[in-house]
Amino acid sequence: MVVYTYVMNKKRVTALVIVTAVVAIGVTAYLLLPRKDNKSTVDQQSQQPAQDGQNKPVEPQGFNKNMFALDNSDSPWWVVNKKRPLPAGYVPPDLGVPPVKLRLAASAEQMQYRKSATPALEELFAAAKQDGIDLVFGSGYRSEALQRQFYNSYVASDGQEAADRYSARPGTSEHQTGLSFDATASNGACHLEKCFADTPEGKWLVANAHTYGFIVRYAQGKEAITGYDYEPWHMRFVGKELAIEMHRTGVQTLEEYFNLPPAPSYN
Ligand code: DAL
Ligand code: ZN
Repeated sequence: MVVYTYVMNKKRVTALVIVTAVVAIGVTAYLLLPRKDNKSTVDQQSQQPAQDGQNKPVEPQGFNKNMFALDNSDSPWWVVNKKRPLPAGYVPPDLGVPPVKLRLAASAEQMQYRKSATPALEELFAAAKQDGIDLVFGSGYRSEALQRQFYNSYVASDGQEAADRYSARPGTSEHQTGLSFDATASNGACHLEKCFADTPEGKWLVANAHTYGFIVRYAQGKEAITGYDYEPWHMRFVGKELAIEMHRTGVQTLEEYFNLPPAPSYN
């Protein structure tokens, strides 16, 4: 009898130990596993607040496309095109003359650039110089009034249809954001011409600009999306994160990268 009771107790103890272990494993797993129904407004990977109150899904590679706004003039990702004009009369609040090689006198309006993007510009020019490439800052910020002068003169010489393919109408030029500039070679070769792409300066920019936060904004073969013919000289500061990510993924336009409507025309 004593032996029988001892055996029964041993079985009970064993069963109790197994049940306790199963419950403990279950509770631990519940506490450790991520919740699918987490409604946090903080991006799970970057820990940055989701913008505009949206909870857009994080990209598979973990790049946060909501890091900056696309419609804010203080954002490096501000997208301006034929369908996304600037606010009327917009002037960037932080214009200055960048300490790089300028094509025109420092007093010329076009020789200004946004201070927020100037450190990146300096880095770009210095890196090019290290590689024996002598870049020149051809045209940076342009006011709505200056763009009007340019556009009107192009329309007068080439007609409106042709001008619209290479010159923005006043109030829609990326130059007015103060974040774009036209690069020029120090010998002036292929200034504002497609053959700039074949110059050492043009080739260097295509290969390296992303490392410093710049993209060639009007890529070859993308006129139906950007609204402009290929401009291998027109550089746009977007910041290193995005420029490197666009280069890595091979997406050449801001419109495509952010799934924005193509902007081939004004209406
Ligand atoms: N050439 C570019 C498109 C501009 O005029 O802004
Ligand atoms: Zn330009």
